[in-house]
Amino acid sequence: MIRNVIIDCDTGLDDAVALLLAIRSPELNVKGITCVNGNVGLDKVINNTLRVVEHSGMNIPVYAGARTALIPDTSKEDASAVHGKDGLGGIPFPDPTSSCEAQHAVDYIVETIMNAEEPIDWITLGPLTNAALALLKEPRISKNVRMLTMMAGGVNAGNVTEVAEFNVFADPEAARVIYNSRMPMTMVPLDPLWNGGFLTVENIQKIEGACQNPWCEMASRIFNRTEKLVEEMGRNPVNGVGTVSPPDLLAVAVAIDPEIAVMFESYVDLETRGEFTRGMTVLDRREYYRKEDRPNKNKVKIAVSARQEKYADLVLNTWIRS
Ligand code: BDR
Ligand code: CA
Repeated sequence: MIRNVIIDCDTGLDDAVALLLAIRSPELNVKGITCVNGNVGLDKVINNTLRVVEHSGMNIPVYAGARTALIPDTSKEDASAVHGKDGLGGIPFPDPTSSCEAQHAVDYIVETIMNAEEPIDWITLGPLTNAALALLKEPRISKNVRMLTMMAGGVNAGNVTEVAEFNVFADPEAARVIYNSRMPMTMVPLDPLWNGGFLTVENIQKIEGACQNPWCEMASRIFNRTEKLVEEMGRNPVNGVGTVSPPDLLAVAVAIDPEIAVMFESYVDLETRGEFTRGMTVLDRREYYRKEDRPNKNKVKIAVSARQEKYADLVLNTWIRS
C-alpha cells in the first residue's frame, strides 16, 4: 500500500539525497515538503529544496516554516562548514523556477495531518521547530500520525558536542516537545551510521553508472562533493575512504522499510539545561522504574544499527529502476 507522507527538512547535502529517495519511492506519496532553518538559513533551505524537487521532475509543494529555533540563539553556528555556504556544497544545480507556497509550513502540517483520512507518515530531517510548533498549535495531530520518523539524536555520542546531535542541538526545546508527545516515534540517531548505515564504494559506483537518470545524476554529484568536503575538513570518513553515510538518507530508508534497521525501544528525554549536555537525548536504560515516573510517555523505537545490504538494495533499486 502506498503511504502518504509529509517531510520536514533543512535541505543540505544529505537532506537532498533523502528527498530524492522519498520522492522516487514507489512506497511513498510525498504530499508536501516543509522547510525549517537548520543546516543553512531558511531562504537557502527553501531554494535548495525547490532545486531538488525540480531536478526530480516532480510537482510537490514546498512550504516555508520557522526562521529561528523556539528560543533563538545567535551564538550557535549553522552547518555550512559541512554542507557548504549554500547548503548544497556549491554544486551548480540550476536555480529553481518555482517558489514556495503561500501557506505557512506549520499550518500546512496541521491541516494535512488533521484532514488525512488514514493516519499519515511524517518524516523530519532537520531541527524539530516546525514539528513542535505544529504539535503545540494542534495537539490532536498526534492521534493521526502513523509514525513520525526522525533523524535526531545520538545514543552513544553526538556530533556538534560530545553528546548532542545537530538537529536536536539546534532546537532542544522543540525536540523536548516532540519527545514528550504521545506520537508513535522512530528515532534514527547517529549511531547506525557507524554500523551498517552507509553506502560502499561499489554502491556509489553503481549509482554513478546510472547517471543518465536525474536521481542518480544528482545523488552522484552530491556524494562526490560530500567526500571532498570530508577530505577538506580533514575528517576521517566514517566508514573508510570513498564511502558515504548521509544521516537523512538512512532516516528516509528506515521510514520506507523499518526492517533496514535493528531497533530497540526506550523512553527518551531531552536535556535542555546541562552545562555540557544541552541537546542530549537521554535514554532510560533502567531495568526498573516506577510506573508513575512515566505517566504520559511512549517508548521511542531507536535504530542502533543498519543492515547494510538491505539498505543499499533499497536505495539502488529505487533510483536505478526504469
Ligand atoms: C543532521 O544534521 C544535519 O547537518 C544533517 O542534515 C542531518 O540532518 C546530522 O546530525
Ligand atoms: Ca538535515
